[in-house]
Amino acid sequence: MVSSLDGFIAKKDNSVSWLEAHDIYEKGVTLTEEDITAFIKGIDCYVMGSITYEHALKLGWPYGDVPVMVLSNRHLVSDRKNVKFYSGDLAKLVNDILKPQHQNTWLVGGTKVVKEFLRQKLADEIIISIMPIILGDGILFFDYVGVEQRLHLKDVKGYQDGMVELCYEIKKE
Ligand SMILES: NC(=O)c1ccc[n+]([C@@H]2O[C@H](COP(=O)([O-])OP(=O)(O)OC[C@H]3O[C@@H](n4cnc5c(N)ncnc54)[C@H](OP(=O)(O)O)[C@@H]3O)[C@@H](O)[C@H]2O)c1
Repeated sequence: MVSSLDGFIAKKDNSVSWLEAHDIYEKGVTLTEEDITAFIKGIDCYVMGSITYEHALKLGWPYGDVPVMVLSNRHLVSDRKNVKFYSGDLAKLVNDILKPQHQNTWLVGGTKVVKEFLRQKLADEIIISIMPIILGDGILFFDYVGVEQRLHLKDVKGYQDGMVELCYEIKKE
């Protein structure tokens, strides 16, 4: 998830210009196109809530032909062969559908879906990229998860554009 420092993952008007950092942090590392491509190549499935899906359709589809599972209780349809829809039990989705077919599923969001995965202990890792901005209002990432979970800090990177990336493993207890 990409978040502002004050914990928002989306602005109320859904505008996305804040998702690009333009700061200069001289000690930071540079994020190259090659890094991004290598990272994305490792993802073999995306899962997202219907609001995030509809937002991605409006902004321009960034997921190519990689399998995408959209969660919705509505009867949504898509012409894309790689897009499927799912409704209901998330543990079944992860254990019976995703795990047998995919090595590295990326839960795109939004916050409703991410929090439900965390509550049900269905996620292995959290990667949060904090942008150098206070948005002041919008959709909060962690307003109320409702369960306590221990994390192991796997990696921290500060980028030259001011973005800070935190990578946590979620400890299985
Ligand atoms: N900053 C970031 O990194 C980031 C990442 C992702 C998204 N976003 C932003 O976050 C916003 C959307 O987040 P959101 O939390 O409001 O919504 P969301 O999580 O994208 O979607 C919520 C919807 O998912 C469906 N859903 C969730 N669990 C389900 C289940 N078990 N079975 C069936 N359907 C299920 C429901 O859809 P129905 O109502 O269709 O039934 C629910 O209304 C957008 O603005 C998006 O651009 C930001």
